[in-house]
Amino acid sequence: MKPGQGLMRHYLQFKDFRAEEYAHLFDRAAIIKRRFKNYERYQPLADRTLAMIFEKASTRTRVSFEAGMYQMGGSVVHLTTGDSQLGRAEPVEDSARVISRMVDIVMIRTFEQSKIEAFAAHSRVPVINGLTNEYHPCQILADLFTFIENRGMDRRGAIDMNCLKGRVVAWVGDGNNMANTWLQAAEILGFTVHVSTPSGYEVDPVVAGIKNPACYRVFKDPREACDGADLVTTDVWTSMGYEAENEARKAAFADWCVDRDMMARAKGDALFMHCLPAHRGEEVAADVIDGPQSVVWDEAENRMHVQKALMEYLLLGRIG
Ligand code: CP
Ligand code: NVA
Repeated sequence: MKPGQGLMRHYLQFKDFRAEEYAHLFDRAAIIKRRFKNYERYQPLADRTLAMIFEKASTRTRVSFEAGMYQMGGSVVHLTTGDSQLGRAEPVEDSARVISRMVDIVMIRTFEQSKIEAFAAHSRVPVINGLTNEYHPCQILADLFTFIENRGMDRRGAIDMNCLKGRVVAWVGDGNNMANTWLQAAEILGFTVHVSTPSGYEVDPVVAGIKNPACYRVFKDPREACDGADLVTTDVWTSMGYEAENEARKAAFADWCVDRDMMARAKGDALFMHCLPAHRGEEVAADVIDGPQSVVWDEAENRMHVQKALMEYLLLGRIG
């Protein structure tokens, strides 16, 4: 059954959707983006309300969901731990029961994945993961769309999902929520992730939730991980919630800065991505993130277009 027409779907991790559903979402994101760029009104979510729950800070996730929902004709309720009963120990199950009676869709940014799973289990409406300690699926959705725009889109905007097949994505840095989600995407969409992390910060395939160990290869040397890569990507050394480890991480990650030498080992036309916020001089050199191979600003903007396609899919099913 289609979402929005019976069976309710959540988007809690990347592997919740199949490859053909991603093909649909990317098609829709391209159409929705084109309309936005042409100032064409597209308001299929009139009278629908999105609740956004933030237990961690955000710039991109908040702006992209909020602006996206308004552009689609809907409205938004913004909740944080500090200004709701969530911060005063109301059980997550009760919060889910109450909030989901009043809105049509919920986006949550929180700590443990188990918390968003508990919310979804008691929600009457679709729940979207806006980042947990373990996963960041909306970001990888935007990253893949950005890659496709650069390598698999013709002049008319038609998408070729095959452009992802057999590609190499170099992950340089922490074995964190972003790395886990890249692994899930590789398994579903048929590419390989070359992962290089400092010792003690490796990806855990069980936490990542992958079955096929061939979807990634581990490299001790971050430079080797970049050899022949189609895309080099990284993230902050210290994710939200791990701030107490900041000094230890700065020491451990000193050699995991994506610099020009690393980019030179990737393919000549390799792209650079970073989910942002970035720390120039830590995980990435300024001349890489601000250089010609970097697509980070498109990547950030694309959060909004892919999430509009995602909300459309979860609420209205397959359109087009
Ligand atoms: N990339 C990302 O999720 O950014 P924010 O933390 O600003 O939402
Ligand atoms: N890994 C980072 C991503 C921020 C968008 C974090 O969890 O803080």
